[in-house]
Amino acid sequence: MNLVITGSTSGIGLETIRSLYPNFNKIILPVRNLKKALEIVNEFKNPEKFHCIEMDLSSIKSVDKAGRQISETYEKVDLLINNAGGIFPSDLKTKEGLDWSFAVNHLGHFHLTNLLLSNLTKAKGKIIFVSSEAHRIGTIRSEDLGLKRRSNSWSNYGTVKLYNILTSNYFNYNYGNGGISTYSLHPGAVKTSFGSEANLISKAIISLSKLFFISAKKGAETSVFLANTPKSQLQSGGYYISKKLKNPISKSKDLKIQKKLYDFSLKKIEEILS
Ligand SMILES: NC(=O)c1ccc[n+]([C@@H]2O[C@H](COP(=O)([O-])OP(=O)(O)OC[C@H]3O[C@@H](n4cnc5c(N)ncnc54)[C@H](OP(=O)(O)O)[C@@H]3O)[C@@H](O)[C@H]2O)c1
Repeated sequence: MNLVITGSTSGIGLETIRSLYPNFNKIILPVRNLKKALEIVNEFKNPEKFHCIEMDLSSIKSVDKAGRQISETYEKVDLLINNAGGIFPSDLKTKEGLDWSFAVNHLGHFHLTNLLLSNLTKAKGKIIFVSSEAHRIGTIRSEDLGLKRRSNSWSNYGTVKLYNILTSNYFNYNYGNGGISTYSLHPGAVKTSFGSEANLISKAIISLSKLFFISAKKGAETSVFLANTPKSQLQSGGYYISKKLKNPISKSKDLKIQKKLYDFSLKKIEEILS
């Protein structure tokens, strides 16, 4: 059994690999900081179980290279957890000219998932998108899906977390018949490095709120639950909080919006890689 998980070098992702470690033969970690990842895997009893690959989600070219390498090396991927993410200043742009939050939280994972689709299909695998209850403040600006227009970081964060649910639902609609199952989740309000790259005001709000947050181990529980529970006991395309099926906002179920975001995302990837 092969697991691919992003954002494994900190917080929820790190606790997720700690819990899932015994259940997988190979754990593939696409990470932006290879040195940090190697230090982490060396803490495990059997570091050979891990394969760390450099991948910066803010660069589609980097995701393309890493995704292709994973796809060519491992015939089957049983589980992909799109976990990395965070809140970033709304005026921050990537080298490829994308809004940073859009690239890291949505487009990078969108491309990685597409590159691993045939491997996931062969394994009749699962895809988990770590979203957030912040999706409820997300807005769909049809003419600005790439979040180029001036906005604020919380609104952009809510929107990209809504994109995670829209994408999970659309992959379920499109590829569910091929045997792939998809899930999205809110991990809770979790004490992690979340917010470390946000602007000063957001950082201050987040660090105060952290007094009331749950531990990273607890925050990983819903990801671990979805990974370990047989598909027959889960709802593909479902949104989970505290290991229970919940209702995300109705917009996330709108097939027209899902398809619009999917087509827009494919076009952006094509533009960057052409
Ligand atoms: N914490 C919460 O209260 C909360 C609530 C709802 C949802 N979430 C979601 O939970 C997920 C995990 O967040 P967390 O709380 O565990 O935060 P975290 O401790 O800050 O971990 C974020 C992870 O994402 C990685 N990452 C960030 N930018 C990246 C990039 N450009 N390329 C590759 N990897 C990158 C980080 O790598 P480095 O180690 O290199 O920094 C780190 O491993 C996120 O999607 C977040 O939106 C968190």
